[in-house]
Amino acid sequence: MDDKTLQALLDAAAPLIELAIAEDIGPGDATSTATLDPNVLLHGRITAKERGVIAGLPVAEAVFRRVDPAIVFTARVAEGQEVVPGEIVAEVVGPGPSLLAAERTALNFLQRMSGIATVTRSFVAAVSTTNATILDTRKTLPGYRVLDKYAVRMGGGVNHRMSLFDMLMVKDNHIDGAGGLLRAVECARAQHPDLPIEVEVRDLDELRQALAIEPPLDRILLDNMDLDTMREAVAIAQALAPSGTRGVPLEASGNVTRARLKDIAETGVDFISAGALTHSVKAFDLSMKIQPLSDAVESDPATRIRVAKNALGDRLVILGHHYQREDVIAFADYRGDSLELARRAAQTDAEYIVFCGVHFMAEVAAILAKPGQHVLIPDIDAGCFLAETASEHLVAAAWSTLDAALSATGSSADTEITPITYVNSDAELKAFCGQHNGTVCTSGNADRVLKWALAQRPRVFFFPDQHLGRNTAHKLGIADDEMLLWNVHRPPSAETIRAAKVILWPGVCNVHQRFRPEHIHAMRERYPGIRVIVHPECKAELVALADDAGSTAYILKQIEAAPAGTQWAIGTESRLVHRLQAEHPEQRILSLSDVPPFCANMTQITAANLAAVLDALLHGEMLNEVTVEPETRHWAKMALERMLSL
Ligand code: 13P
Ligand code: SF4
Repeated sequence: MDDKTLQALLDAAAPLIELAIAEDIGPGDATSTATLDPNVLLHGRITAKERGVIAGLPVAEAVFRRVDPAIVFTARVAEGQEVVPGEIVAEVVGPGPSLLAAERTALNFLQRMSGIATVTRSFVAAVSTTNATILDTRKTLPGYRVLDKYAVRMGGGVNHRMSLFDMLMVKDNHIDGAGGLLRAVECARAQHPDLPIEVEVRDLDELRQALAIEPPLDRILLDNMDLDTMREAVAIAQALAPSGTRGVPLEASGNVTRARLKDIAETGVDFISAGALTHSVKAFDLSMKIQPLSDAVESDPATRIRVAKNALGDRLVILGHHYQREDVIAFADYRGDSLELARRAAQTDAEYIVFCGVHFMAEVAAILAKPGQHVLIPDIDAGCFLAETASEHLVAAAWSTLDAALSATGSSADTEITPITYVNSDAELKAFCGQHNGTVCTSGNADRVLKWALAQRPRVFFFPDQHLGRNTAHKLGIADDEMLLWNVHRPPSAETIRAAKVILWPGVCNVHQRFRPEHIHAMRERYPGIRVIVHPECKAELVALADDAGSTAYILKQIEAAPAGTQWAIGTESRLVHRLQAEHPEQRILSLSDVPPFCANMTQITAANLAAVLDALLHGEMLNEVTVEPETRHWAKMALERMLSL
């Protein structure tokens, strides 16, 4: 978060904090001052009790510091980060009576703001495979507008107008009161020619009137329309758009519930505004537990990890992916991207490989492990959104369709197509590639692998990430009309299949999918000369606009090699961006989006569950061992070894 945003948040929060402290503490906390020694320092842990997104830590810190400047507040997660139950969100150290006096007020702010961020993130996730952007409204708690809207941004939403003065919004009442839509727009524009203007339409006739206005409106709001009418509105707006443009953006509003969200987004509207984000807030569940400072040190996960690493010595190796949180990656013997970690896993002789990353990565280590080696993961449920978009069952069904299309001309899938699975996939899909003379790729070697594959056979079936597949094919000069995006529900005709060189599975990563062209335009406008670098899991339009694209290791290498003072906007998972900011103070490094996209799956690995796995090893027990059934392992290993030899 930049300094200006932080200052604006704290300025807006300051009077609210005064009010809240006056109503809760007043002349003093009667119980705490009577029972606790003000000279003894206590330690408090603020812990998440459910899964969600944290927002408001700077406000919580301001509350503690306002109650007692002697309190030291340490955030353990970043703003906008997803947390899991039991995760420590922040720690406070200070005199007992001060900590307890500030606790309720600090948590009330943090719980409300995190509640808004959490529901916003769920709305954003529900539309992540469409082009719709989630907007808030003015339905905020009176006095809390800045805080509520800040929390929406931390959840990944975008703010609609802040107040009545920063945008013209001509609604039904203005239209009826002014005597018609055109007249209302004319009057509004005449008085405020510099303000952006949005007009609400109630039906398709009003929509046509609004679309005919010159100069074009900035946005049109479709009020309370049913799905069919919205679809029709999108078609009308597109038909009337000047060629080569998307036309006036459309916003859907009214009765936007979580259940209807995806259907609304799939009508093709550009924006969806939802009052529910801020008018029906469900506080995010957090608790604070106090203990003496000395006990806190002993139960500290970091201390337990250090003790276990020391005791297990060379029998243990901890591998950490770049997207892991700071307090986990600090204990990795090796950190890297998925390719580097696959290589490390194949080389190590350690008896226990503890993989701090997501399940498919640990599975790769298990496939490559030597006899007697064990691979463990701190949370066995840390999956990957992208990997889960494809299953062996669905891919095998698609393969049969491909085979049928090619058999008609006397050929077959096995003789014509090389299957490539991105490493972000289940072991079964890697085995599928092993069995069908295919291989695996990572974002670090995808172009080399695709080139190899096309030298074997004329076509490639690439899964599960459509964007990595398309971006890599573009790099090799393959045009979009030579690529076919698979549709699981409506398989293409045999003729279309036979015309395709690269067949792409429709999977996406919900983290990288969030970057949009507007982010690049905004960065370039704000920081002239900034270099934009994105991960190839981003959409092709992003890669085309960016200066460069590459795997996490590639991004790191570019930053390290750049002269001091270079400006970078990075389009990948935020923990890597934050780490680069800390490790390269000589560069200006920014996340491409102002709302940091954290990978929720990577977030599941915590210092606490890493400590639990290591504690168990010390007691001779294996928690969360990752294993692969022998037949699958045999074929998957063949595909992986083919990749590692390229
Ligand atoms: P890398 O191959 O760049 O490590 O990426 C893995 C991943 O999951 C990216 O989202
Ligand atoms: Fe999977 Fe995306 Fe997370 Fe990478 S960032 S692990 S692809 S969900």
